[in-house]
Amino acid sequence: MQDYFGRSITYLRLSVTNRCNLRCRYCMPDGGAGKLAHARLLTADEIEQVALAAVRVGICKLRLTGGEPTLRPDLLEIVRRLSNIPGIEELVMTTNGVRLAKLAAPLREAGLRRVNIHLDSLNGAHIKALSGSDCLERVWEGILAAEQVGLSPIKLNVVVVHGYNETDVVEMAQLTLQRPWHVRFIELMPLGKPAQFALEHYVANQETRARIERAWGPLVAEQEAGTDRDTYRYRLAGGKGSLEFISPISHAYCHRCNHIRVTADGRIRLCLLQDEEWDLRPRLRADDPVDALADLFSRAIQCKPYGSMLAQGIFPTSRPMAGIGG
Ligand code: 5AD
Ligand code: SF4
Repeated sequence: MQDYFGRSITYLRLSVTNRCNLRCRYCMPDGGAGKLAHARLLTADEIEQVALAAVRVGICKLRLTGGEPTLRPDLLEIVRRLSNIPGIEELVMTTNGVRLAKLAAPLREAGLRRVNIHLDSLNGAHIKALSGSDCLERVWEGILAAEQVGLSPIKLNVVVVHGYNETDVVEMAQLTLQRPWHVRFIELMPLGKPAQFALEHYVANQETRARIERAWGPLVAEQEAGTDRDTYRYRLAGGKGSLEFISPISHAYCHRCNHIRVTADGRIRLCLLQDEEWDLRPRLRADDPVDALADLFSRAIQCKPYGSMLAQGIFPTSRPMAGIGG
């Protein structure tokens, strides 16, 4: 269905936990996800009902997010159920990859189509400084496992952070010379408690792109990438994979936004960068929960805000990124 501004909302990002096994500086407030840690998570049953309702209002793409979705013990059960819902054409997941080496095959079998894997650098020390963990090798094995079982094309998310990995983007781009992967450079967004960190360590994608072009030559534009963002895919000359620049700050794509989110504790979040939320949980107790949930989805979608208020100096503060799912 369309929102008040005529945008078709077809994509739901569904967070299944706010916990994470990493502590990325720009995402997790110190010490974890704070008060949300004790919030009641939707059960697999409830998640299925929410997804059924979402399909009724026109959602056809579902992405599982976290925190880190692979920390959810019943993740395979959730994937199995969601992959059996008619009307869901695309079921994908965003993960930090730490547990993917073992999980890739069962996830694929359960019906997952594809994964986006968060990898900020190929330098182990830089990963450790950013995420607090020596996880580069494990993540790398996870990426290879995902590719091998056909969770492809592999997409890698690189959040560019001044003073940490801003020069590593050259090596990340180089990966696409040999491998058919999509490497996506994401601008740091100010959200929750780490907002100040994000403001201080922001790197505009124009700068990242220039750095890559200085090393590898001019990028060649391909077809337009998504439907939801004003971005293009690029290739390095002779490259097998592609590059994408996701620029929520320097080139906000709110006018083409096609998605909403549901948090792990059952609230519709209409805009990543605005704190307004609609609670789905009371509707789960209705006689016909799917009907009641669909009704709330449709009202909420009509009220989806046009975009963020960053330009007005209003930052979202209610949840860290890990509580929303990126
Ligand atoms: N700004 C931009 N991207 C972020 N992510 C987490 N925190 C931020 C932030 N402050 C990204 C992670 C993950 C995705 C869900 O969101 O890289 O891939
Ligand atoms: Fe975990 Fe992803 Fe947040 Fe890093 S960015 S702490 S991997 S949820």
